[in-house]
Amino acid sequence: MYRKMTLVRSTARPDAVAVFLPDPTTDLPAGYRELDAATGSALTAALARQELSLDRGAITTLYPTTGPGRVMICGLGKPERFEPNAVRAAGSRLARAAHAAGVKRLRVDPAPGVGEQAKQLATDGLGQALAEGLMAGAFNFDRFKGAAVGSKKDDAGDALALQAPAELTDGLERGLAVGHGQRTARELAATPPNVANPRYLVQQCRRLAREHAGLTCTIIDAAKAKELGMGGLLAVGRAGSTPPAVIVLTWKGGQRAGGGGGGGGGGPVMLVGKAVTFDTGGYSIKPGASMAGMKYDKCGGAAVIGAMEAIARTKLATHVVGVVPTAENLIDHTAFRPDDILTLANGVTVEVGNTDAEGRLILADALAWGTKRYKPRAVIDLATLTGGVVVALGRFCAGYMATDDALAAALEQAATSSGEKLWRLPLWDEHREQVRGSHADILNAAGRDGHPLQGGAFLSYFVGEDAPQRMPTLPWAHIDIAGMAKAESDGDGGGVYGKGPTGYGVRLLVEAVGRV
Ligand code: BES
Ligand code: MN
Ligand code: ZN
Repeated sequence: MYRKMTLVRSTARPDAVAVFLPDPTTDLPAGYRELDAATGSALTAALARQELSLDRGAITTLYPTTGPGRVMICGLGKPERFEPNAVRAAGSRLARAAHAAGVKRLRVDPAPGVGEQAKQLATDGLGQALAEGLMAGAFNFDRFKGAAVGSKKDDAGDALALQAPAELTDGLERGLAVGHGQRTARELAATPPNVANPRYLVQQCRRLAREHAGLTCTIIDAAKAKELGMGGLLAVGRAGSTPPAVIVLTWKGGQRAGGGGGGGGGGPVMLVGKAVTFDTGGYSIKPGASMAGMKYDKCGGAAVIGAMEAIARTKLATHVVGVVPTAENLIDHTAFRPDDILTLANGVTVEVGNTDAEGRLILADALAWGTKRYKPRAVIDLATLTGGVVVALGRFCAGYMATDDALAAALEQAATSSGEKLWRLPLWDEHREQVRGSHADILNAAGRDGHPLQGGAFLSYFVGEDAPQRMPTLPWAHIDIAGMAKAESDGDGGGVYGKGPTGYGVRLLVEAVGRV
């Protein structure tokens, strides 16, 4: 599969030209008539046949005897169901089909076929969505493929050169950058827990910072975490195969004039992501069937890391700090236990009702420390926090809570353009009351009712310096991505990613950060 995708200015004859058509298409869009003429009417001839599928993501290759040797027709599906993900899904399948055909140089020209529907997508948006889709389709996790499949691993020389109309260039470049960030998130997600432990995540982030000028990485190691009073992080990570840490990635893009939605203020935008590299549940151990797949419990952190890479690649003009607490929730004689009372970084005490509600403990320390240290103007956290959100909302959207309507509006706009969907859930003082404890300030698990809301309410005690006493005044959103980190079927996520790790959140966060 392609390891690299670049936009080229050259107009040398491509190996294939990709056109995009909605279902049904009776008349060939005017913008493709020239290509049709150059290929001896191959396009109109194909359209005249009843067998051409223009379903979302369907690819049909024509082999005209004149003009470019291949024309790849990409289906956009029904116009009335058009959304940016139709372009991403088409791009995703196109990358796979092009690679299978050995295409090295591909010309893409989506605008004529997207046509009227493109009103939902500015030109930049169209190019961006297409490039994000192409990158998503080119994801191939073959690192651990071995002798039994006679694996020929992807090599760095396997590259796709893209040609496109000039007006798409900016959008495509941006989409490739975001797509690279999302690929990083998916690779981290898929990497197994015997390799991707907290120390590995630290190493990968250090490498990322070395590779991207302007991106810096600092680490709060276990000793420093102890000094800072991070009792939640240390408890969860105590039995882990490597010590817990908090990874801090900083991008110092220029301060944007005026601020905008999300409450103003001059601080950075802060992104916080849960990275539990494996979640056994601890002494409140998970049954086997629920434990399998818990390598994906680092996906909130992986999305933040991928978003920081994308932000650096796009040279975003905003100051952004990514904070990723990482720990492995295992068992040994030092592991934390139910009934333990922990003191977290802002002095709030927590009684452990369940060692499987560990994500909120590591996030709480990261939120308390991060909001105090950086005085952010807005905070967004992402976490595979509760199975409850999967029961409630399924695998079509993440659930989120927000303390600020302007931040919520920015997120919803970002969800629409990124195609990474969200649904708002309540966060009230009642929910804060629900997690109060009797022997400590709060409980990490207070019975079965409203799990995802308990998670948000718990975290609300750690966001900004007024949070222990009242609902945080800082604009903050908590996004529970437990249902989104891993696609169970090819159709999940709008058909963009295919089954497996999604990198959900990278596109959403990049869009959201530009709006707060
Ligand atoms: N990592 C899990 C949540 C999860 C479940 C993610 C399924 C992805 C798929 C989290 O740490 C957890 O175990 N949550 C518990 C919370 C409970 C003990 C309060 C849950 O959801 O059952
Ligand atoms: Mn858990
Ligand atoms: Zn977990």
